[in-house]
Amino acid sequence: MNVGILGSGVVGQTLGSGFIKHGHQVKIGTSNASKLNDWLKNAGSNASVGSFEEAAEFGDIVILAVKGTAALSVLEKAGSKNLANKTIFDTTNPIADAPPVNGVLQFYTDINSSLMEMLQSKFTDANFVKAFSCVGNALMVNPDLGGQKPTMFIAGNNEKAKSDVKNILHTFGWEIEDMGNVEAARAIEPLCILWCIPGFRENRWMHAFKLLKK
Ligand SMILES: NC(=O)c1ccc[n+]([C@@H]2O[C@H](COP(=O)([O-])OP(=O)(O)OC[C@H]3O[C@@H](n4cnc5c(N)ncnc54)[C@H](OP(=O)(O)O)[C@@H]3O)[C@@H](O)[C@H]2O)c1
Repeated sequence: MNVGILGSGVVGQTLGSGFIKHGHQVKIGTSNASKLNDWLKNAGSNASVGSFEEAAEFGDIVILAVKGTAALSVLEKAGSKNLANKTIFDTTNPIADAPPVNGVLQFYTDINSSLMEMLQSKFTDANFVKAFSCVGNALMVNPDLGGQKPTMFIAGNNEKAKSDVKNILHTFGWEIEDMGNVEAARAIEPLCILWCIPGFRENRWMHAFKLLKK
């Protein structure tokens, strides 16, 4: 599979290396290719770097891994024709620029909205699926949690796109809980706030959610 990644930060680089480890071809999109010199040096012959537009065009599937406030403009640069009918694996969070309050991140969305709904409403031909927004990058790809499999909550409107994301998550070592349609991002995105609290308060960052079921 060709994977186009929009985002040169730690999430884009981590997922890029993860997809390459599992046999895929990856192109990371950025407006600043020099940020990826080290990643490119180490990532091997299945890795490449381009513009946001080139990465989106390259991808059979597109990973969205940019700062939340930049997501809309990056997708506009990627081009709606390069996103149409594709699965958009959306890792982003609507984190405000204001600092956390006692370890609690601030969002610029309210509880009855979400970043993914806003993006889905602007790019109606693309199939967004929320995933990996509520775990640190260090645990995204085949995490070692002492034999326990963590749970990733996902949501999105398109069943084929969710099936693509489920296949990736299985390969990356996750259990999956499908929370339904795009509106469920209102519940999934704020899990990022909860996930980060032990990090900001106690410098503990190596944990993940698990849904216990009978
Ligand atoms: N860090 C984590 O462990 C983690 C875990 C779960 C979810 N997330 C979410 O995943 C997304 C990516 O996170 P990240 O930590 O990898 O990187 P980030 O610093 O949040 O985002 C970096 C990317 O955003 C782009 N961008 C565009 N305009 C920007 C601006 N004004 N300021 C900063 N960046 C801008 C950058 O573009 P250029 O490439 O052109 O520089 C770069 O590709 C975020 O939405 C974050 O909330 C992060």
